[in-house]
Amino acid sequence: MKQYKVGVIGGTGMVGQRFVTLMEHHPWFQLTAIAASPRSAGKTYEEAVASRWAMKTPIPEEAKSLVVLDAEADVEKIAAMVDFVFCAVDMKKEEIRALEERYAKAECPVVSNNSAHRWTDDVPMVVPELNPEHLEVIPAQRQRLGTQRGFIAVKSNCSIQSYAPALHPLLKFGIEKALVCTYQAISGAGKTFERWPEMVDNLIPYIGGEEEKSEQEPLKVWGKVENGKIVKAEGPAITAQCLRVPVSDGHTAAVFVSFANKPSEAEIKEIWASFRGRAQELDLPSAPKQFLHYFEEPDRPQAKLDRDLEGGMAISLGRLRPDTQYDYKFVGLSHNTLRGAAGGAVLLAELLCAEGYIESK
Ligand SMILES: NC(=O)c1ccc[n+]([C@@H]2O[C@H](COP(=O)([O-])OP(=O)(O)OC[C@H]3O[C@@H](n4cnc5c(N)ncnc54)[C@H](OP(=O)(O)O)[C@@H]3O)[C@@H](O)[C@H]2O)c1
Repeated sequence: MKQYKVGVIGGTGMVGQRFVTLMEHHPWFQLTAIAASPRSAGKTYEEAVASRWAMKTPIPEEAKSLVVLDAEADVEKIAAMVDFVFCAVDMKKEEIRALEERYAKAECPVVSNNSAHRWTDDVPMVVPELNPEHLEVIPAQRQRLGTQRGFIAVKSNCSIQSYAPALHPLLKFGIEKALVCTYQAISGAGKTFERWPEMVDNLIPYIGGEEEKSEQEPLKVWGKVENGKIVKAEGPAITAQCLRVPVSDGHTAAVFVSFANKPSEAEIKEIWASFRGRAQELDLPSAPKQFLHYFEEPDRPQAKLDRDLEGGMAISLGRLRPDTQYDYKFVGLSHNTLRGAAGGAVLLAELLCAEGYIESK
């Protein structure tokens, strides 16, 4: 397989550190450039992250001595060094939109973890197992940007990964409505317990903007490409409440769902067990072998026990049972900084390379 040179924009942050860690033993991707704010630029990566390295494994050797570049001032330089960039920066939305377009226009594809471009109608928002066909919109985006190589592709919000993958193969039964309560880990706020002691023994019933994302983003994922744009699906209607809970990593969702044509419990479990997406068909390096794992034990999935399943890239499901007001209820779990953030973006980049949208220079 070809090798690709990769840059990480926002490489000093929580998600950026994950990207750097995931590049360490990646068979296709070689970490070549790291960029962040002017606060970090000019320092070695080791110096820049010394006091805030939040990963469980040490800083990769290959990253330690890289000199951190300036994400905004060094766009052209970085674009010339790499085949594509991952982007995970904490800036204002308009600034992120502009920054990502600058990289794309410098002919550097951007695989973004940020939400800024999720609703740009020619930017594909892809979960590789669910909507790989949305990559077909990229030529139209390149035409708008006036680029040959450059484009932006994004991954969806972390919260939806705990329930949308389970609902996806059930869409054929006509999902009428779904209610979701998410219980989201503190790493989703870029925090650890050391940096957010108020979260120990606590629960905060508010995560800004999260409920709207949780209700709306699945509709873009389930949308269709029409005339160079992604037109979002009209349903199913989803209502969501999102809570921050004292868990380091792993977003859990309690899901209630009703169907026009109600399948049996056995059918649902069989569909989950046999579901394979494009990522599995292509055998992408970060793809879980079994995307949807169902646990029969009544006390699973648990964040601490199950979030790292298949490298944190699988979705864990359990507790499927009839409900008195909806047809069924169940529980889903996904690793928010792996499947839900950096891992999901790495899998998307693998898909883009395998499908020929990113070429090595
Ligand atoms: N944490 C998650 O689980 C998660 C999940 C999904 C999506 N996201 C999204 O991913 C993005 C990053 O999140 P995070 O949790 O990794 O944030 P974070 O830990 O606060 O890191 C932010 C990164 O952005 C850089 N940055 C800040 N201001 C900048 C500027 N003016 N110019 C260039 N770089 C700048 C920082 O560089 P310095 O170190 O130099 O300040 C750092 O590398 C956000 O858009 C977030 O919404 C996060």
